[in-house]
Amino acid sequence: MPLSSLEPIVNLAKRRGFVVGSSEIYGGIASIFDYGPLGVELKNNLKQLWWKTFIHQRDDMVGIDSSIIMHPRVWEASGHLESFTDPLVECTKCHMRFREDHMPEKSDGKFWKCPEGGEHHFSEARQFNLMFKTFLGATEESANIAYLRPETAQGMFANFKYVLETTRQKVPFGIGQIGKSFRNEIGLGNWLFRLREFEIAELEFFVKPGTDEEWFDHWVGAWEHFYESVGIDKANIKRDEKSKESLAHYSKRTIDMHYRFPHGWDELGGIANRTDYDLKRHMEFSGKDLTYFDQETHEKFVPYVIEPTQGIDRLFIAVLCDAYREYPGGRKSDDAAMPEEKEPTETDVVLHLKPFLAPFKVAVLPLVKKDGLAELGKQLAEDLRKSMTTFYDESGSIGRRYRRQDEIGTPWCITLDYQTKEDNTVTIRDRDSMEQVRISTSELNHWLESRLV
Ligand code: GAP
Repeated sequence: MPLSSLEPIVNLAKRRGFVVGSSEIYGGIASIFDYGPLGVELKNNLKQLWWKTFIHQRDDMVGIDSSIIMHPRVWEASGHLESFTDPLVECTKCHMRFREDHMPEKSDGKFWKCPEGGEHHFSEARQFNLMFKTFLGATEESANIAYLRPETAQGMFANFKYVLETTRQKVPFGIGQIGKSFRNEIGLGNWLFRLREFEIAELEFFVKPGTDEEWFDHWVGAWEHFYESVGIDKANIKRDEKSKESLAHYSKRTIDMHYRFPHGWDELGGIANRTDYDLKRHMEFSGKDLTYFDQETHEKFVPYVIEPTQGIDRLFIAVLCDAYREYPGGRKSDDAAMPEEKEPTETDVVLHLKPFLAPFKVAVLPLVKKDGLAELGKQLAEDLRKSMTTFYDESGSIGRRYRRQDEIGTPWCITLDYQTKEDNTVTIRDRDSMEQVRISTSELNHWLESRLV
């Protein structure tokens, strides 16, 4: 059942250390968030999987890490200075600002209902550039203006020649990166969905003109496959082909990949055919030759670019929404050794995350603290930590400890009991099925690692 509200996830995320508002001790700051100890693990796992899938596992891809502040001419060339704008209207009474295209219909052609309440007159829309401006050096002069990048793409275009010269790549090939991007968004809300500081994983795939449509289809398929690999149900993803009128200034074709967010179907990521727009513009503005010479055919051309892009924060929401389940009345276990699980409890919450995404892969839980079981458990946790993220918990009833791990998505709980002392075996309890197997500690690493691949 798709969630009708983000609220339970936002609450869980805050309570258990996934996400919190930025600088909350000062009251927070609109649409900027911090990832806590568990959130950063999940986010890093998503980024690592993306990197492995699209950079390490392909011989036609390389990665880079370009700077956030680039030469200001980059943004002239890319068209961002001129076109990266939203139409802004201001309520003349309360002075709140809104995106014109997010406003409800005008009630009599003149007035809108102010989203903050009441009928107000709004100013004429003016174009508002979303790039954050700053100054380089000690003086705030127009000659020193610089911008925080609103996308990572331009770093890949600016390095196109450098990558060609320093690697053995030949067209078709791609450059990918993951990094922070900044947009001074006007229309905010929906938690991590529309942020002012966020992360993008995207790649620019350079192809011979004429082969671009084929490659476009390839990347649409690859993106859909990636969503499945992080555990997102196919039924929650759909393609949204952009109409000619709504295409970005650089795009010949764009498919946005929509996810069924609690607030409705909305953009999760996208694939754009940027043609030769960016390379040609950078040639024009930098005066450098960015054409490609094909050694085999002796042809010279400016490659077309297919750009699949993915907001990591939106992916984080989608993965959590798909993994989150509530079990009113609690889940029932058939294991007689765990009587706590048989008692009716309040609603149990389980994050059914793919094991490789889970912040902790295992939790080590001695049944009791006494009789040397805690020492054995601590030692086991220390050993496991060498190869995977491991949580150690010795306090509270075993059922409650299981539920605490279920709620943060830990796939396996390892319990040590009195038998452990006799024969060096432990039980492994599976988060999703709640089934338990008893195995020898010497087999534990292999058992877990084979399931994490
Ligand atoms: N280089 C192309 C580009 O930047 P975009 O659609 O503007 O395209 C890429 O942004 C992705 O970044 C989006 O698909 C979305 O996942 C994410 N994104 C965009 N704006 C965002 C924001 N304000 N907060 C969080 N994620 C955002």
